[in-house]
Amino acid sequence: MRSQLFARKRILVTGGAGFLGSHLCERLLSHGHDVLCVDNFFTGSKDSIVHLIGNPHFELMRHDVTFPLYVEVDEIYNLACPASPIHYQFDPVQTTKTSVHGAINMLGLAKRVKAKILQASTSEVYGDPDVHPQPESYWGRVNPIGIRSCYDEGKRCAETLFFDYYRQHRLKIKVARIFNTYGPRMHPNDGRVVSNFIVQAIKNEPITIYGDGKQSRSFCYVDDLVEGLVGLMNSGDEFTGPVNLGNPNEFLIAELASKVIEHTGSRSRIVYKTLPEDDPKQRQPDISLARAVLGWEPRIALDEGLVSTIRYFEKLLGRSIATT
Ligand SMILES: NC(=O)c1ccc[n+]([C@@H]2O[C@H](COP(=O)([O-])OP(=O)(O)OC[C@H]3O[C@@H](n4cnc5c(N)ncnc54)[C@H](O)[C@@H]3O)[C@@H](O)[C@H]2O)c1
Repeated sequence: MRSQLFARKRILVTGGAGFLGSHLCERLLSHGHDVLCVDNFFTGSKDSIVHLIGNPHFELMRHDVTFPLYVEVDEIYNLACPASPIHYQFDPVQTTKTSVHGAINMLGLAKRVKAKILQASTSEVYGDPDVHPQPESYWGRVNPIGIRSCYDEGKRCAETLFFDYYRQHRLKIKVARIFNTYGPRMHPNDGRVVSNFIVQAIKNEPITIYGDGKQSRSFCYVDDLVEGLVGLMNSGDEFTGPVNLGNPNEFLIAELASKVIEHTGSRSRIVYKTLPEDDPKQRQPDISLARAVLGWEPRIALDEGLVSTIRYFEKLLGRSIATT
């Protein structure tokens, strides 16, 4: 009992009401920790965490990370930031502020209370890469003035801040570069390819492919990703990252569309539209570092993950192909 009490940590998850954050809060509670979920509900929703409310080890706080926060915690997972282009381009100035001011505020808090802090960075720091797959040592090819820059450069600056706090103040930092992740509780209308295709298929509407469908992506199931984040936080203090977390198995966008049609039994046809500005042609993580240091790699195959994601969206939209 005594050792259990000492093992219980107080953990802050910013962006905890979002897609990844809600799964992370669940996982941390299941490991016996106290979880403080902080969110301004810009893209997150109380529906994602409603099942956790009432758990005496779970607390929810409405707060915007661009403002300072004073709480006593042992660990901070900094996930707060809109993640899909539709959401982060809605108010680009606020997006940069969330990444940069949010990082400054959370790093300041970590310094004050001597907490370990993990940053949810992104594969977007590699921009439109000319190296495939991308190892952490690749510095990226990012447009600093384009419509994706508020997100890409905001996240790059957040990484810079993390490493300056590490060098200057000896903070215990962890930086995860997250690649495309999918699963239940993704937003149905955020323009991300997996949710787009599934929603269109369930509604028997045309499936929209931007470009010729030959651009490739790798998709990591949310449970695998959360496992990687927790593994990174629990790794030795000498390991800061950045470390790529994602699934290295590549699929063409056209292949994904076929799988979604197959698993939903949809009557949707495929339509092709012009590729948006700055859309990367290929994105694949090199996860050698995560394998070597964290002993981590994704376990859930795309077909398996797609089926549980499809079941989630069928419930959310109140129908399945079988009933339409
Ligand atoms: N899902 C992915 O594939 C992916 C890939 C790379 C990186 N990431 C990163 O992981 C994190 C979580 O992504 P997600 O997919 O869960 O997105 P999400 O939009 O579902 O979650 C982000 C959460 O942050 C909250 N938020 C936004 N601005 C805030 C602010 N100023 N103050 C407090 N809360 C705020 C939102 O309300 C939401 O709950 C993000 O930092 C994102 O950049 C995600």
